[in-house]
Amino acid sequence: GSGSVLERLGRARVVPVVVVDDAEQGLGVAEALEGGGLPVAEVTFRTSGARDAIEAITADHPGMLVGAGTVVNPRQVDEAVAAGASFLVSPGLSESVVRAAREAGVPILPGVATASDIMAALELGVTTVKLFPAGVVGGPGAIKALSAPFGQVTFVPTGGVTAANLPDYLALSSVLAVGGSWMVDKELVVAGDFAEITRRTAQAVAIATG
Ligand code: 3PG
Repeated sequence: GSGSVLERLGRARVVPVVVVDDAEQGLGVAEALEGGGLPVAEVTFRTSGARDAIEAITADHPGMLVGAGTVVNPRQVDEAVAAGASFLVSPGLSESVVRAAREAGVPILPGVATASDIMAALELGVTTVKLFPAGVVGGPGAIKALSAPFGQVTFVPTGGVTAANLPDYLALSSVLAVGGSWMVDKELVVAGDFAEITRRTAQAVAIATG
């Protein structure tokens, strides 16, 4: 694809959050997401297999935009980038993680939940942030309220996003994209129900391109 990674995320509008145990599951999910018309995946560093999954997906699906999620320390930044991740997502804001990502030359979406978090992100030169957990900290209403003092900030709300509330988030001009696991429910992955992942993904794409 063309354009910067953030531009590509902004065109995709939806970032599937993926939890897989190994490369095989990762490849199944990647195929299901592509089949649903969304060649994007945030593979979370919540499992020991995340690194292998990122390596396998980037090797077999070169057109796919693959990032690493739940990156919480600089060591994971280096692991994710070595595996081929082209963007990084963190649940919170860590200066050492942001600096490591910058040194690696890979964009990072640090997590923020408050105005103070956003101010800390801005001090580090970050203007695109993950709002997490979006549903718990106020959903679209929180983004509207935070956009008043922070008009230069764009958000990737994640946490509690579903097909039902997706339009409310995407309607906000300060929302670059949303993140969420609802398309790639872990139970579907374990059961090997990739058809349902594709169905949910296609539904999300239809809503997002509405
Ligand atoms: C994340 O890591 O961003 C969250 O687990 C995603 O939240 P969700 O499961 O509510 O979509």
